[in-house]
Amino acid sequence: MISIPQTTSFILALATLLETALASDNGLALTPQMGWNTWNTFACNINEDTILGAAKALKKLKLDEYGYHYVVMDDCWSLHQRNATGYLQYDPVKFPKGIKHLADEIHALGLGFGMYSSAGRYTCGRYPGSLNFEEKDADLFAEWEVDYLKYDNCHNEGQSGTPLISYNRYEVMSRALNKTGRPILYSMCNWGEDSPWDWAPTIANSWRMSGDIVNVFDRYDDRCPCDDYICRLPGHHCSIMNIINKAAPLGQKAHTGAWNDLDMLEIGNDNLDYEEQKLHFSIWAMVKSPLIMGHDIMHTSKQTLEILTNKDIIDLSQGNWGVAYRSYKKEHSQLWLQDSKDKSGNIVVALINNGDKDDDFSIHFEDIFLDEWDRRKVGYQVTDLWTKEDLGVVKHKLKVKVKRHGIFVGKLAFAGDPNVKPKVKKYHAEPDEL
Ligand SMILES: *[C@@H]1O[C@H](CO)[C@@H](O)[C@H](O)[C@H]1NC(C)=O
Ligand SMILES: *[C@@H]1O[C@H](CO)[C@@H](O)[C@H](O)[C@H]1NC(C)=O
Repeated sequence: MISIPQTTSFILALATLLETALASDNGLALTPQMGWNTWNTFACNINEDTILGAAKALKKLKLDEYGYHYVVMDDCWSLHQRNATGYLQYDPVKFPKGIKHLADEIHALGLGFGMYSSAGRYTCGRYPGSLNFEEKDADLFAEWEVDYLKYDNCHNEGQSGTPLISYNRYEVMSRALNKTGRPILYSMCNWGEDSPWDWAPTIANSWRMSGDIVNVFDRYDDRCPCDDYICRLPGHHCSIMNIINKAAPLGQKAHTGAWNDLDMLEIGNDNLDYEEQKLHFSIWAMVKSPLIMGHDIMHTSKQTLEILTNKDIIDLSQGNWGVAYRSYKKEHSQLWLQDSKDKSGNIVVALINNGDKDDDFSIHFEDIFLDEWDRRKVGYQVTDLWTKEDLGVVKHKLKVKVKRHGIFVGKLAFAGDPNVKPKVKKYHAEPDEL
């Protein structure tokens, strides 16, 4: 028997400790995750048929070919009691063949399967939560071959209020998931409490940054009382514009494998008009939020499908683009920018008209090329990413018509003499690229 000196064994123990992992080391969500979740359409009325039906519809619509991969089962899948050895039990009426069978069927379609729990005593629907049962639950999820965990914040027994308290609670599940040995995408849902963008990137693949979304374009509602991202009561019934305004400064905190989650998509649900839905989808893609559909996918309209499958907009989420940022916010309009990460110097410009009438806007190059002054002097060829129209070469400013509650999203490509190509600043490196 070899005796290891005490210092060596201490170093070994330390090394083992440091090795215990971070969810962002799970190799997942290298681009923001895409998929579908049961909640916005079915709430608690889920069962094997609804979920498998949705998975098959996703496949039939070929949405997987656009990147929609995960089928996520939200709350209300379990029984109200753990079993005698402390494990969660699925509801055998809703899932007569069990969850593993459901996962197998979803995998057979080439899709990923998502599971739900809460970092609390109960889930939001008052089923047993995973707080203090993290390892047991993670093991069970891994045994069922789950690929994704949405992890909520209800009934957290007061374990919030400082970033460290929240971090510690969510980190336990991150560690438990890693310990299973199965790569499981970790989607934190703590509604932006205690500024998760500051501490979640090393433990999770995404974190919600606001209270729950509602399919309303822009309306104050006391159930979602905050206008700002620092918020003591995140709530729910947060409108599309409310979430966009909270998300605007947070893009700088996102990086590969670690994304701000603006909540599930309301595309294809009632109430939002065509323009509002295109605006919603564009900004979610540009800020690299997960793109998780929430509509009744088995009854997807042509218009809904058209929005959800706009390849140019999806590319802003999944392609070689940085995270979008806001150039200005006026009373009835906002300008958003998204830089290409390659050397082309291409830039995407999005003008939101949140006013109540169709309007004309001039977008000045001073507001587009914020840091690189010499780029304001040359011309750019402009393509509208929704109409696919070529708008020709523009200089100094770009004039656009934008419908009420609509958005213009245009790609600007340098169109000058290649010999006088203006210097393009190196793309601001993300933390994981340093
Ligand atoms: C667990 O964490 C380690 C270290 O960060 C990482 O190399 C490994 O891929 C992770 N495993 C899983 C299953 O997430
Ligand atoms: C509780 O559930 C786990 C996981 O499904 C199972 O392995 C265990 O046998 C169950 N315990 C009892 C007492 O039924």
